[in-house]
Amino acid sequence: MTPAKLALAVAPLLAACNPDQSALHPAGEQAAGAATLFWAMAAGALIIWLVVMGFAIYAVVGRKRPRTERFADRFTLIGGVAFPTVVLAALLIFGLSLLPAWTEDEAPDLRVHVKAEQYWWRIAYETPDGGRVETANEVHLPVDATAEFVVDSPDVIHSFWIPALGGKMDAIPGRTNLIRLTATRTGVYRGVCAEFCGASHALMAFDVTVLDATAFASWLDAQQQPAAVTNVTGAALFVASGCGGCHAVRGTAAAGTIGPDLTHVAARKTIAAGTLPNTPDNLRAWLADPDAIKPDAHMPAYAPLPAGDLDALVAFLSELR
Ligand code: CUA
Repeated sequence: MTPAKLALAVAPLLAACNPDQSALHPAGEQAAGAATLFWAMAAGALIIWLVVMGFAIYAVVGRKRPRTERFADRFTLIGGVAFPTVVLAALLIFGLSLLPAWTEDEAPDLRVHVKAEQYWWRIAYETPDGGRVETANEVHLPVDATAEFVVDSPDVIHSFWIPALGGKMDAIPGRTNLIRLTATRTGVYRGVCAEFCGASHALMAFDVTVLDATAFASWLDAQQQPAAVTNVTGAALFVASGCGGCHAVRGTAAAGTIGPDLTHVAARKTIAAGTLPNTPDNLRAWLADPDAIKPDAHMPAYAPLPAGDLDALVAFLSELR
């Protein structure tokens, strides 16, 4: 294969690498450690492979000369016992040194509660005044601050993973797991569910936006505000159609807690947990038949509503910034 053909063959594989969701493009302290470990292991594996191949080639084409039994024993002991022991011990020590060093006594800069649901993420921020503010399918973080994620699940096992920031943490029903992540670079990254949890496992992603401290504070402040509703008929229709039974829009009569909090849904980049861009057309398609977009989603289809009502609900939701 010529180099040009090889490059052509490899191109699609590399094109699939999305830096927003790559553990090898770290934007956080913990991910940087994991990336260093990966590159150290990859380089070590390459060097050892080259040495072993060198011996293999020498064994086949080298000058045939009788060796003593003593030489063979030593060669086996050094190459087969001593060398792997030293290399694996060094790798173990290096790997252990990358494990998180915090204890629960050290307070994080920020605490975020993450509940993995089928198939979306309930996110609640602890606010400085001791309250909580809920959002869904999006995580905002201040740069250079350590956030502690308190992870659990009400249904099945999921796994909370932001590859660009650090390792995974399982979301297990009946158990609370903690993971701390420190973002070191502003930007937008992608988080995913990393544990097969049902038909729409691949359709529960979330945006992770890392902001500077001031921008983060104003984002959190905006999230705490109730919805600025000017479309009063839309709000009434939202409740009358039953949407308010599952969804909360703070500042209106809709106070459901089963589904995602929609108080600021129009400010989110995606709908249905990273499945579709947040546009009126997509929102309409989602309301009409969620199951067609996300199999096994718990939300019922609203296709039987009069078309005018669907449009009015989309108009109402689109103004909830
Ligand atoms: Cu949730 Cu996979």
